[in-house]
Amino acid sequence: MKQTTETRKFSPPVILLHWLMALMIFSLYAVGLSVDSFAKPTRPMIINAHAVVGLAVLILLVLRIVARKATATPDYPGGMGPMFRLAAAAGHGLLYLLMIAVPLVGVATFLRAGRTLDLGLLQIPSPFAANRDLAHQLQEIHAVLAHLLIATVVGHALVALYHQFILGDGIMERMRPR
Ligand code: HEM
Repeated sequence: MKQTTETRKFSPPVILLHWLMALMIFSLYAVGLSVDSFAKPTRPMIINAHAVVGLAVLILLVLRIVARKATATPDYPGGMGPMFRLAAAAGHGLLYLLMIAVPLVGVATFLRAGRTLDLGLLQIPSPFAANRDLAHQLQEIHAVLAHLLIATVVGHALVALYHQFILGDGIMERMRPR
């Protein structure tokens, strides 16, 4: 939907999905990095929970893109030049790209490790035989992309805080829950 100057906030579904996904992504990152600190017998359960929540991120991302397109987008506060808009679009594009790439490489890691996805009532076994070397390489790519995602999210948050508290242009109103 086209930008409109009458709208000052994103729609409630977009705001809800923004904060929910931020929480899920930070939790997935923390759990992903701490898998080895769990006792060995509990690790498959932790990795399964990580995979289920990670897949939920992918599904919510699709809903978010649909909600973003279907509802009005608030304009930026006045005084923001084309360079800022371009930088913001590039940053947001990178965030979307990484939010797709990290879970997809996670799925590949999970499948090539020969794991079975346990959804409680439904078990989905990997169609591939376990390949430890390949799974390990995919896991390393998954980790690098996850670090990049978190660095981009932190950068995005710092820019928003700079606008809000140093420039004082009220940019965070756009994504503030009511
Ligand atoms: C935004 C979503 C995700 C984030 C931020 C994330 C983050 C991470 C991180 C930081 C690690 C640790 C990597 C390392 O240190 O080697 C990890 C491991 C892993 N992730 Fe994800 N992940 C996400 C989604 C997924 C999804 C969707 C799946 C599978 C369906 C998945 C499967 C795995 C697997 C199998 C491991 C290896 C665990 C192990 O064997 O130690 N991840 N993830």
